[in-house]
Amino acid sequence: MIIKNLKLRNFRNYEKAEIIFNEKMNLITGRNAQGKTNLLESLVYLSLTRSHRISDDRKLIREGAEFADIQCTYEDEIERDLEAVIYTKGKTLLVGKQPMKKSSEFIGLLNVVLFAPDDLSLFTDAPKERRRMMNQEITKISSRYLLTLNQYQNLLKNRNSLLKSMKVDIALLDTLDEQMSQCEVTIVKMRKEFADRIGKILPQKYIELSQDSQKAELEYRCCLEEIPEQDNDIYQALLAMHQNTREKDMEYHMTTAGIHHDDLNFEMNGSSLINTASQGQKRMAMLAFKLSLLNYIEEKTGKRPVLLLDDVLSELDHQRQSRLLEMVKGPYQCLITATEVPEFLKEQGISEFQIDSGRITQIAGGRV
Ligand SMILES: Nc1ncnc2c1ncn2[C@@H]1O[C@H](COP(=O)(O)OP(=O)(O)OP(=O)(O)O)[C@@H](O)[C@H]1O
Ligand SMILES: [Mg+2]
Repeated sequence: MIIKNLKLRNFRNYEKAEIIFNEKMNLITGRNAQGKTNLLESLVYLSLTRSHRISDDRKLIREGAEFADIQCTYEDEIERDLEAVIYTKGKTLLVGKQPMKKSSEFIGLLNVVLFAPDDLSLFTDAPKERRRMMNQEITKISSRYLLTLNQYQNLLKNRNSLLKSMKVDIALLDTLDEQMSQCEVTIVKMRKEFADRIGKILPQKYIELSQDSQKAELEYRCCLEEIPEQDNDIYQALLAMHQNTREKDMEYHMTTAGIHHDDLNFEMNGSSLINTASQGQKRMAMLAFKLSLLNYIEEKTGKRPVLLLDDVLSELDHQRQSRLLEMVKGPYQCLITATEVPEFLKEQGISEFQIDSGRITQIAGGRV
């Protein structure tokens, strides 16, 4: 997948801007607070219909403006135009100028994988954040996952309000348990596949990137201790889990077990990564995870996502910078932001853009 161009109007600090990307490497430089992350954020928005930084869309609209508009043309087999218009109340999503009724029809058409320094907090964050990331990534490859997850969340809300009522309707609780377990089968299977697949690629990517012999691993912490092979067995196990915790759920007036408590566990040499890895190793592990994600998305969709690296190079030593770029520059279109042009990138024939207070100037290369 190649992002051909991006047009912004009243998005963050961009009043009106357009950028035409190179199919391979694009370097976007600028001093602090000029709009580098904002530019990548607009592409994340087109990929997920939400920002990776904030949940209140109104902050994305340029101060004083009524709406923000993000447009891009990308190409996989065909060329397509995507557009998101963000208003203070709601948004319109368009594919080839046609408005989409549901976000699920739009999410994942443009597939980007972003790596930003803040991502390292994922290792120390509460499980909720890792779940959110996992949901987000699986949603990019499957609209069914998103629909099932939304269904589950509605059922969970209903079940929790039922558990708060004075006299719990047991027949209704039985029905909700059955419906929830059905949704959970789909979610558990897709989460397991996600973690298994990425868990297989991760150790090798870590070694390749860091030249460090440690073993980086990823494991799915599912609400079921063991996940059976057959769908019906998974369903029965989930149903039994809800029924076994029913008494406790009634006491606490909430659903204490279920896929809304799942987690991902990152390890280094068999122990929890947070407790053992150095800062540099954590950075390498997160980058290796993102590179594994690229592979996973490509395997599942048959399309190569675009890699967005926000201010990442300055945190790596020269050897690691060049190893990373060697690993990605052939197969993937890359958009890299930095405050300064890394020395060794100067001779690589990349396109270079400079951002100054939301104004973009092309300095070198590209297809203008
Ligand atoms: N809604 C908005 N309207 C106008 N300006 C905004 C809006 N939201 C953010 N900004 C401005 O955007 C700038 C920050 O942009 P961004 O985060 O992209 O910087 P950056 O170039 O990535 O900087 P750094 O190198 O520090 O990461 C700030 O000056 C901020 O005031
Ligand atoms: Mg930034």
